[in-house]
Amino acid sequence: MRKINVFDTTLRDGEQTPGVNLNGKEKIEIARQLERLGVDIIEAGFPASSPGDFQSVKEIAETIKGASITGLARSKTNDIDTAWEALKASAEPRIHVFLATSPIHMQYKLKMTPDEVIEQAVHSVKYAATRFPHVQFSAEDANRSDWAFLVKIIEATISAGASVINLPDTVGYTTPEEISELFEYVITHVPNIDKAVLSTHNHDDLGMGVANSLAAIQAGAGQVECTINGIGERAGNASLEEIAVALQIRSDYYGAKTDLQLSELKRTSSLVSRLTSMNVPGNKAVVGAHAFAHEAGIHQDGMLKHKSTYEIITPELVGATSSAPLGKHSGRHAFKTKLNELGFTGSEEKLKAIFVAFKDLADKKKEVTEDDLFALMADATDELQNAQYELEALQVSYGTTHVPTATIRLALYGGGRIEEAGTGSGSVEAIYNTLGKLTGSHYELKDYRIQSVNGGEDALAEVHVRIESEGIEQSGRGVAHDVLEASAKAYIHAVNRMLNRQQFQGKSKVNS
Ligand code: KIV
Ligand code: ZN
Repeated sequence: MRKINVFDTTLRDGEQTPGVNLNGKEKIEIARQLERLGVDIIEAGFPASSPGDFQSVKEIAETIKGASITGLARSKTNDIDTAWEALKASAEPRIHVFLATSPIHMQYKLKMTPDEVIEQAVHSVKYAATRFPHVQFSAEDANRSDWAFLVKIIEATISAGASVINLPDTVGYTTPEEISELFEYVITHVPNIDKAVLSTHNHDDLGMGVANSLAAIQAGAGQVECTINGIGERAGNASLEEIAVALQIRSDYYGAKTDLQLSELKRTSSLVSRLTSMNVPGNKAVVGAHAFAHEAGIHQDGMLKHKSTYEIITPELVGATSSAPLGKHSGRHAFKTKLNELGFTGSEEKLKAIFVAFKDLADKKKEVTEDDLFALMADATDELQNAQYELEALQVSYGTTHVPTATIRLALYGGGRIEEAGTGSGSVEAIYNTLGKLTGSHYELKDYRIQSVNGGEDALAEVHVRIESEGIEQSGRGVAHDVLEASAKAYIHAVNRMLNRQQFQGKSKVNS
């Protein structure tokens, strides 16, 4: 079996999803889970794009030792120097330099001739190789590039020191047959191709991201770039979990394997979904809530007779079965063990806070599941020290013949509290109008979503909101037993994050 390197770019390309802005702690939490999942390479960000990105790439490089950490850089010496400063502490520093190679990008975006593009790419790769032991070069928009030109630039950048050549389908334009031909062409025409690993990176604009990735692997790619839940800008990137499970279930066909711990897939997907506030559709392959549910009578009958009739992937394979739930009699020790198992690495103080929330929940709910615990952890691991506002008290009065009214008290970072009352056409609007008055903010509510963490009458409510100000979107989430409290918490979370973000000079989403 050929080993395929899994290059996860959830924290870079995935984070380019509109409205997704992970803070440093959230990124570290995801990076730790990716390490547990066993990805080979984590693209932690784009260090030169903003001070915030630089800092989080640096922290990840300093913390994660079980995977190689990389960062994106334009083909510019400044970007490469900044990436080096962020990545030098990593166990295996790696840089990802890119430059566009398609006629459209060269002419309209770069305003450079093909010869100038080769010269700049070679210069950047050579420069990067004086610092980094591993240099990856990406020919942006490769699938719309001239193949003979690609052969030239690939040969030149390998000679300059690139050990990985990535051919991204930047705009999700290619098809499985076409990408397969391209990889075969490159393998047969680039004379020094044996000195580098070929990598595939596919966007999902035509819904073929995963299929294209698998076709490229079959044609000889030794590295696949993807994101958890397929997040990314526009229609997103190829989804890691779908590629990984396809390679496993159809190993007879692909003859390739990864080193991933597939049983961590569901957990990784839930974590990313929660921290990015991006729902995983129920019917999403591998990690969707209904991916293993059999509804039709004939199917259920078949399953009872023999599971292989209708089940090609077992829920156990991807960790979609919850282990023994905790309940109100569970002690602190069992609780702590469980949290550590789930990857909790916070302080004793945070553990205490989550334990209190857990006990409170266990009083109301028969069984506290892993999903509940994830929700409680996510709620408690926000950067509270940077929070400007914290919900202290909420009272809502609603009646079919009354104007809904909310009274809210907020604790202020640095001491003090403020209180206000306000009305709205519904309870949630009353809460948001009141919070607007309290925080003096005029954010537009772009999205409001509510979901129950596990279903059932006693489920926790999880609310996700997206607010916008001056073209910048920010998401927030809140978890509580009560929908209105969760709604208030989600809005406050988004406002806190927006204010934190304004402390940096805005995150620039420079690339693709
Ligand atoms: O899609 C793309 O072209 C990219 C490159 C920077 C690899 O994300
Ligand atoms: Zn991309």
